[in-house]
Amino acid sequence: MASGMGTKLPESVAAAAAGTLAISGVAVTGSVDVGVGGVVVAGASFVNHCRLTKPTSSGTNTVRPHSIGLTPVECAFLCEEHDMTVLQADQVTKQYRMGDVTVHALDSVDFRVESGEFVAIMGPSGSGKSTLLHLLGGLDSASGGEITLAEKQLSRLDDNAVTLVRRRKVGFIFQFYNLVPTLTAEENIALPLLIDGRDMKQSQAKIDDLLALVGLSDRRSHKPDQLSGGQQQRVAIARALVTDPDIVLADEPTGNLDSKSGKAILELLRHSCDELHHTIVMVTHDAYAASYADRVVFLKDGRLVRQLHRSEVKDGAVMQAIMNVMGHLESDE
Ligand SMILES: Nc1ncnc2c1ncn2[C@@H]1O[C@H](COP(=O)(O)OP(=O)(O)OP(=O)(O)O)[C@@H](O)[C@H]1O
Ligand SMILES: [Mg+2]
Repeated sequence: MASGMGTKLPESVAAAAAGTLAISGVAVTGSVDVGVGGVVVAGASFVNHCRLTKPTSSGTNTVRPHSIGLTPVECAFLCEEHDMTVLQADQVTKQYRMGDVTVHALDSVDFRVESGEFVAIMGPSGSGKSTLLHLLGGLDSASGGEITLAEKQLSRLDDNAVTLVRRRKVGFIFQFYNLVPTLTAEENIALPLLIDGRDMKQSQAKIDDLLALVGLSDRRSHKPDQLSGGQQQRVAIARALVTDPDIVLADEPTGNLDSKSGKAILELLRHSCDELHHTIVMVTHDAYAASYADRVVFLKDGRLVRQLHRSEVKDGAVMQAIMNVMGHLESDE
């Protein structure tokens, strides 16, 4: 481990390290000096959100660096091994049986999401987008293949264990918001914490921060039917983020909104990725929405057929490139 270049880790890191936080296999206690000089900075730009490995009594666990106050550069310096993968689908298939008919909704899908990415899933209607998103989030089980979420192979877990992974590691955002109509905005945001048995007093500051993040501090006591569609979706985003999930899964989050409210939602998602280091997978049929993502994957007939990285497309041409691929996929039908 690098040391001695003079930068003290923040208090929060020292606190996390105070037990025994093993970083790249090296046990450290108390505060740690890390170098943030030129050595790794040049190579650090790609290491935005790597994980530290922290052994616990129940086995190896992981900590996201920003959650313990590490900057990407400090993290890059501390970690020798980076496990950037948050979510992985290997040869995933899904069939639905409808009487004598079998619908092949997904066919041998390989898909991987790294920490800090914003990925859009596009494809013609019926191509399997929602099915894939539901399997990725443990809302439904695959017929074949494996999904690994937050280092857990979902096919090996029983229903209760999948529920726990889903509750603690995944935030969901749906097209029609799915807020509880009898609860206020604030209560809807707090709901995942309540369900998980967390102490609400300790969480109040977090809920206040999220209300501010989504611009609804002055609407905290409003019930869903007292909010506009865009405001309801912003409550849903805050609810999705409140557990600090490993991944946020969104199915057509702007599909029910006018263009102005939709833009606000997309900017919020982009912000939560860039500034708060969340990882987002978003299903959309809208090229404009997909243009906010770092990467777009395209499904057709249950197969992942194309992939487009924003960085590979010339400035300003992202939406056109996405529309071109969608045009090809739809004209082939
Ligand atoms: N519960 C189900 N039972 C039977 N077939 C299903 C079920 N859910 C989805 N399907 C079928 O699986 C295929 C993929 O559906 P899915 O909802 O994933 O598509 P999608 O890409 O999200 O479409 P859209 O853009 O219209 O939302 C479709 O042929 C659909 O009819
Ligand atoms: Mg769908």
